[in-house]
This record gives sequence, structure tokens and C-alpha cells, in this order.
Amino acid sequence: MDDLEQLRSDLLTRIESADLDALEGLRVETLGRRGRVTALMKELGALAPEQRRDAGRALNALKTAVTDAIDARRAALETGALDARLSGETIDVSLPPRPEPDGRVHPISQAIEEIVAIFCQMGFTVAEGPDIEDDFHNFTALNIPPEHPARQDHDTFYFEEGEDGERLLLRTHTSPVQIRTMLVQEPPIRIVVPGRTYRADHDATHSPMFHQVEGLVIDEETHMGHLKGCLIEFCRAFFGVDDLPVRFRPSFFPFTEPSAEVDIGCSRSADGLTIGAGDGWLEILGSGMVHPKVLENCNIDPSRYQGFAFGMGVERVAMLKYGIPDLRTFFDSDLRWLRHYGFPALDMPNVAAGFAR
Ligand code: DAH
Repeated sequence: MDDLEQLRSDLLTRIESADLDALEGLRVETLGRRGRVTALMKELGALAPEQRRDAGRALNALKTAVTDAIDARRAALETGALDARLSGETIDVSLPPRPEPDGRVHPISQAIEEIVAIFCQMGFTVAEGPDIEDDFHNFTALNIPPEHPARQDHDTFYFEEGEDGERLLLRTHTSPVQIRTMLVQEPPIRIVVPGRTYRADHDATHSPMFHQVEGLVIDEETHMGHLKGCLIEFCRAFFGVDDLPVRFRPSFFPFTEPSAEVDIGCSRSADGLTIGAGDGWLEILGSGMVHPKVLENCNIDPSRYQGFAFGMGVERVAMLKYGIPDLRTFFDSDLRWLRHYGFPALDMPNVAAGFAR
């Protein structure tokens, strides 16, 4: 028994000063399969019954004391290691954050946002339609019958003929969304339609995929004065020039009568183009009063309702407003270009300025 007392105080002293590795060694040395306490346990069988009981109790107490001491020491060592790490790894929360590289809004997206925001301020809502269209919506319902020469101007991309003999196409303008809207919505109608459009044309000023924003207003009392007021207001807000000269020039579109092209005033000099002053003109929009046949094609009574429509090329107005010289660069996906010409997300200062007026 004295031996056990001695063994116990030896072990507890060593455990007290052991590190994590030594602790594991000590555990094996005493409680392992060949450990000292385990060996003493095995010797119990050789003792007389009454001695065996006392010795067994003493050995069990020793085993418990050693196990508890090892566990306590291990827990203390682990907490100590964590504390040491925490105090070593301090974080200075007052340091400025590392800058996150942020993306840029493409000028086409920015221009569409700005255009749509201006018309929405005037009470328009946004409508959309499919890029893949049929002949009816893209041409026929817009008063462009099969033999009409305007079809040649559109350089249409056609799909192969379907089982029903119909050839679908990539829409050549956003005007088919006028038809889709009038077929399902009762007047009054006030919509703008941003979207992708396609024509088989590729050079410095044409891309086979480009963007338009269409507009349509149908009501009982809508007249040419509304068309003019609305588009003058838009041009001035979009280009941010209060007294921007705006000119309506007679033109032709099969789906409007009368039709007008809209020009804005500009000056050309060695430094380039300035919008708003000078004696030059730049065409930016097509427009007109919706043709009665188009209304009829959409089951709208032309003796009761009339309205106006317009369509503009987004690339063109974006190039003019943001000073982007080459149309092809819009679709090169060059990140350096986007960093230069792109816009910070959620930042539309020009529109905000337009509204403030
Ligand atoms: N759809 C015409 C084009 O792509 C643009 C246009 C002109 C749209 C006059 C209109 C409009 O709605 O009234 O060339």
C-alpha cells in the first residue's frame, strides 16, 4: 500500500509538469496494456480474497486518480495553447479593408437603363418579347406584306422551314412587341420595349446583333403633338442638354403614317462632336403615328383609338452620349475597354440629373 501511495504521488507529480506528448507517454506507461497499474491489476488474482478486496479498491482509486489527472492536465494544456494562439493572432479591426475588384456595367446596359428610366418617369411601363419571331409579328401585322420592298432592307436571318412550312426568324426590330402587346392589352397603352435585334450586316457601323428601344402609345386622344412633346423631352433628358435642338423630318415606315425621323442638333469640329450646339444634325430615332391598318391587325378600332410609336438604336445613342467611337468594340468583350467605358453599378448620375430638372 505504501508503494501505491508512492507510485501515486510520483505519477501525479510527473503529470503536473508533462506536455501533451509526455502526457500520452505517461498514459501508456501506467494505464496501457503493459502499463504499471495494469500489471498490478493482473497481480490481484494471486492474492487471498480479503487482501484482494482492499488492494483492488486501492488500485481502482489509483487508476481513477491518474486518469482524472491526465484528463485535467490535457484540458489545461489545450486551453493554454488556444489562449496563446488567440493572443498571438490579434486582428487590427481599424485597418482599411483590401479593395474588392468590382465589375462594371456595360454601356449598352447603362444606356438601356437610362432610356427606360426616363420613359418610366413619363408613365410608360416596360414590355418584352421573344428574339425568335414569326413572319406575322415581325412583318405582316406591321403592314409589311410578303412582297413589300421594306423586307429587303431588313437583311433577315431566317431559320430553316418548320414542319408547318413556316420559317421563323430572328427579329429585325423591336416593333413586333407592339403587335404582341396590342393583341393582349386593351388601350390605353404606354410601353417601352428594350431588346436585342438582328440583321445580316457587319461593318464599322453595323453589328449582326444590336439593340433597340421601341415605344408605343395608344389612347383615344393621342396626336402628333404628344409624339413631338414626348420625344423632345426624352432627347433633352437623355443627352442632358436643356435646350437641345430637336428636328422632326418627314420619312416613311410601313407601320406609321405620317412618319418622321428625329434629329438632334450638334456641331462637328476638329475636337469631335458636340451635342446640343451648332448647325449640324444627327438622326437618332424613327417615329410616327401608328398606321390604322396596324391597329386593325391587332383588333383595335382605328376610328376610336390612335397613337404614336418610335424606335431607336441603343448602340448609336450610347456612342453619341458616352463618346465611344467604334460600334464593333461594344461586343469585343475586352475587359480593358469595359473598365474604361463601363459604369459603376447602381450609379446613374445623368438620369438623376435629368429628373432633377
Ligand atoms: N422598326 C424601325 C427600324 O427598325 C424603327 C421604327 C421606326 C420603330 C418608326 C417605330 C417607328 O416604332 O414608329 O428601323
